[in-house]
Parts: sequence; structure tokens; C-alpha cells
Amino acid sequence: MSATRLKRVAVALDTDDRETFSRWCSFFGPRVGVLKVGPRVVLRWGRTAIEEAAGTGAAVFLDFKFHDIPSTVAGAVCAVRELGVSYLTVHAGGGRRMMEAAVQAAGDQVRVLGITVLTHLARRDLDDLDLPGEAADRVLTWATSARQAGCAGVVCSPLELATLRRRLGPELLLVSPGIRFDDSAGDDQRRVATPAAALRSGADLMVIGRPLTRAADPEAALAALAAAGA
Ligand code: C5P
Repeated sequence: MSATRLKRVAVALDTDDRETFSRWCSFFGPRVGVLKVGPRVVLRWGRTAIEEAAGTGAAVFLDFKFHDIPSTVAGAVCAVRELGVSYLTVHAGGGRRMMEAAVQAAGDQVRVLGITVLTHLARRDLDDLDLPGEAADRVLTWATSARQAGCAGVVCSPLELATLRRRLGPELLLVSPGIRFDDSAGDDQRRVATPAAALRSGADLMVIGRPLTRAADPEAALAALAAAGA
């Protein structure tokens, strides 16, 4: 493992181009703790993509966000175990029994993370879904349920990190996307914060995609993350 590997950074490898994927693996893989792949990549290139990411020495995070009846999720998680990945996501909104089934199927090899409220959802989106109240309250409820189900951690926005750390203790892994070097970035993410703020609030792992993969100077972006304490 490289001495400068940023253990608290998971790079989201969201691309449709195989060459770009390989380039990102070889550039980011030796420099960060975790590489994250989702359906966009795995449905195109299958387990070769997972193997390529794992071959860099980084842990692999399979972001499939499962949400189904417990037996179906358990079956899918059993298949995931064979892939040798370290992290897997399921939706906490699938309920406690679904998460328990995932955790049981994962065994000791895969850490199951419960997705709380996705970071692109703002108050108005939740109202549209008839999910009244503050996102932060729902995140706490669903994260509590994920912990009770035995999940190793939860995924939340950086804005909820401090409350979850305080309320749910030091053991639960807090994984946070919605990281932006500049709070004014105008893309689809809504509940965002800077890396320094996320780390201060208790993030164990920051999921970062476009701010790294689309950076004009990715090396400088990684240096900024190192300076922030990642
Ligand atoms: O490019 P960006 O930094 O917004 O990428 C964030 C990554 O984290 C994406 O791959 C997205 O699917 C994922 N993610 C998220 N919000 C969650 C869970 C995962 O944005 N709650």
C-alpha cells in the first residue's frame, strides 16, 4: 500500500467509457483506500471491472443499493460475496428485516452499508414523495434501524454526520457522498459540504466522484484532500 494512500477517500468510478475506467483505476487506485463501482460500470463490463479495481490494492465498494424483499436481497448478497468486494449498499428504506437478511448473507467478508436519504433529495423532493419532515430526522430514524439490523455502517449526507456520530456512537461507519471542494458547485447534489467539514463532523469514508474524476488537476485535488486530513 502506498504511504500516501488516502484511506478515507472512496472514488466513485462513474463512467461509460472502458478506457476512462482503466485510467481512473490506475491513477486513483494506488492513491486512495477505496474504489466505488456501481451498476453503470458492472452492467457493462461485469466482474472484470471489479477485478481491475481490486487489482490496484484498493478496497472495492459495490454500490448497488439493493431494495427488495428480504429473500431476494439475501440471494443477491450471496452472489456479491463471491466477488470479493469489501463494501455493499442496501436501502435502509427497505426495512429492518431486509437489512438483517443482507447482513446475514454478507457474513464477515462484506460490510453492509445502509443508505439513508440520498444526497440529491432536498426538502421539496421529500414533500413530493409525501415524506414529511426534515431529511435529518428521517436519516436518524433509518440509520438507527440500519444499526439495529447489524449494518456495519450507513451512508448519509455530510450535514447529518455530526448528529449520527453523537447519537449512534463511535463504532458505526459513517460514509458520506455529497462532498464538494466548493459549496457553490451547481450539479445534482444538494446536501453537500467540503472535505474538511465532513471529516470534522465524523466521516469515516468520503465518497467522491466528479470533484476528483473531472478535476482539471486530480493530483492537486488529492493533495487538498490530504491537507484536509483524509
Ligand atoms: O460525483 P459525485 O461526487 O456526486 O458522486 C457521488 C457518488 O456517490 C455517486 O456515485 C452516487 O451514486 C453516490 N451516492 C450518492 N448519494 C448517496 C449514496 C451514493 O451520491 N446517498
